[in-house]
Amino acid sequence: MQFKSEILSNQEIAPAYWRIRLSAPPSFVSAKPGQFIMVQVSDSISPLLRRPFGVFNTGTDEQPWFEMLYKVVGKGTALLASHHAGEIIDVLGPLGTGFDQGSDDEEKLIVGGGIGLAPLYPLCKELTQKKSPVRLFVGGRTQADILCLEDFKALGVDCHVATEDGSLGTKGCVTKALEQHLDQLSGKAAPYVCGPHGMLAAVARIADARQLPCQVSLENYMACGVGACLGCVTPGKNHSPTTPDYRCVCAEGPVFASNELQWRS
Ligand code: FES
Repeated sequence: MQFKSEILSNQEIAPAYWRIRLSAPPSFVSAKPGQFIMVQVSDSISPLLRRPFGVFNTGTDEQPWFEMLYKVVGKGTALLASHHAGEIIDVLGPLGTGFDQGSDDEEKLIVGGGIGLAPLYPLCKELTQKKSPVRLFVGGRTQADILCLEDFKALGVDCHVATEDGSLGTKGCVTKALEQHLDQLSGKAAPYVCGPHGMLAAVARIADARQLPCQVSLENYMACGVGACLGCVTPGKNHSPTTPDYRCVCAEGPVFASNELQWRS
């Protein structure tokens, strides 16, 4: 659905990272965790294309709103950061597939970094409401890249933090903490991951080696968001120069089973 949305708040929560809350139609609050939206950040013709964002949080039927996290990295996101409460922007969504929430007898190992945490928050929210076991592994280069930890803790999620410079949590890569946890785990586990490509690829390899079901949410560049331009495609597991095998991230994803895709190192 396409709708006009009023900005309710728009705040910088860490250097270059922003959290924006927008009004939404009542039906929007039933968006599935993992779905995304396309936002027209400006009324002018530049930038022409909408920008994709994961849905971070939603309100209630009585008070429908949604939130997104974004990082200012270019003209589009800088424009978004210049908007104030009360201004109106155009939104398309919710779009794409959401996460498959698996079975309640497996521990959900949620792995994310930066604004990749956005689609993982509503997933944690639903899983904790169902009393499904959930554990969060969040990583970043520094403390400033660790976003919204208090929101996850407020859900009752056990959070493991790792930063490359050691400024918060354990020093090193978050995937190491994930592997250490898996080494000690005797029951079933299922990783869910959203973040930088290297993090996705590392978790996909860990899951593959241990034969765990793993879902990844991709943050590919998107132009249309509805399967029309094929600007977002990513190689499927059988892709080769002679036998093309692509997945359309906006229409078939952004969530995929990690073993459906081809991972470059
Ligand atoms: Fe156009 Fe996916 S963004 S097909």
